[in-house]
Amino acid sequence: MSHPLEQLRESALREIDAAGDAQALEAVRVRYLGRNGSISAWGDRMKTLDPEERPVVGRLLNEVRNAVNAAIGQRAEKSRSQQESDSLAKIDISLPGTPQERGSLHPLTQMLDRGIAIFRRMGFALADGPDIETEWHCFDALNTPRDHPARNEQDTFYLPDGRLLRTHTSTVQIRAMQAAPPPIRVIAPGAAYRRDEVDATHSAQFHQIEGLYIDENVSVADLKGTLEFFTRELFGADTAVRFRPHYFPFTEPSFEIDVRSKALKGGEQWVEVAGSGMVHPAVFEEVNKARGDDAYDPEKWTGFAFGLGMDRLAMILFDIPDIRFFAQNDLRFLRQFA
Ligand code: PHE
Repeated sequence: MSHPLEQLRESALREIDAAGDAQALEAVRVRYLGRNGSISAWGDRMKTLDPEERPVVGRLLNEVRNAVNAAIGQRAEKSRSQQESDSLAKIDISLPGTPQERGSLHPLTQMLDRGIAIFRRMGFALADGPDIETEWHCFDALNTPRDHPARNEQDTFYLPDGRLLRTHTSTVQIRAMQAAPPPIRVIAPGAAYRRDEVDATHSAQFHQIEGLYIDENVSVADLKGTLEFFTRELFGADTAVRFRPHYFPFTEPSFEIDVRSKALKGGEQWVEVAGSGMVHPAVFEEVNKARGDDAYDPEKWTGFAFGLGMDRLAMILFDIPDIRFFAQNDLRFLRQFA
């Protein structure tokens, strides 16, 4: 006949084995090893035993307690890993994953990048200026008098403090000349703003690449060569370029530039793409005043400037019928340029 403690061990191990979940297992533990558990009870009973029996039963009690404890631990571990593999088995690896969408550059960004790359090959450096400008940089320094229509509140966005959203990137001509003496050869890509009535070809925000080249003996021929090279790189070797006399306050003479190319849709039509001209001596004088020197001596230096309409260029290059597409963020439109 085995000792009652051994019988308790047998039944405890059986019940542990049969315990279906963590709760049942805990119940078994309490029943045998809890404060009033049937195995624990043997601890109190020791005092009542014969002295020679005590060490034997004591050792057995320890053995049984340890064995039951260990079995409970193993059972718990087993059901934990069982649970884990059960839940893994529920994952359907044939389900499609979460797709990762790949972004792409906006067509205007692509257009600006292409334009910048062409001018960089001709040695133009990048210049920059703020979109929120002083009236002086946008108009006064560019020989545009107070009564010029471009300064009308109907044509320009003014801030309460008197600054404005630049109406052209020509502001960067002034900033570049303030920052460094001649010679200068820079381009300035960026946004410009006008209170235009918005339609298929007009937007309150548009984009330009400004160019400024100042050195000794710069002539209209250099301006023509530079812009012809640019448009041919962009639209192909058979692109025709036309310089139409125009008026800008800050250049003299001034030209509007049209291009025509068989490569373009609507082939034989002239499309206006830029304003340009030779930097007006009055601009040099105004810059000198601001610099406090005569670095830009109009007797010594000459230069050309241009402002290319990049939205227009992108529209004819990519055959985009409406300038409003650029700002609507419609993925059906944008994905065509991915
Ligand atoms: N700033 C002019 C415009 O936006 C373009 C221009 C630039 C003209 C440089 C001459 C020289 O219309």
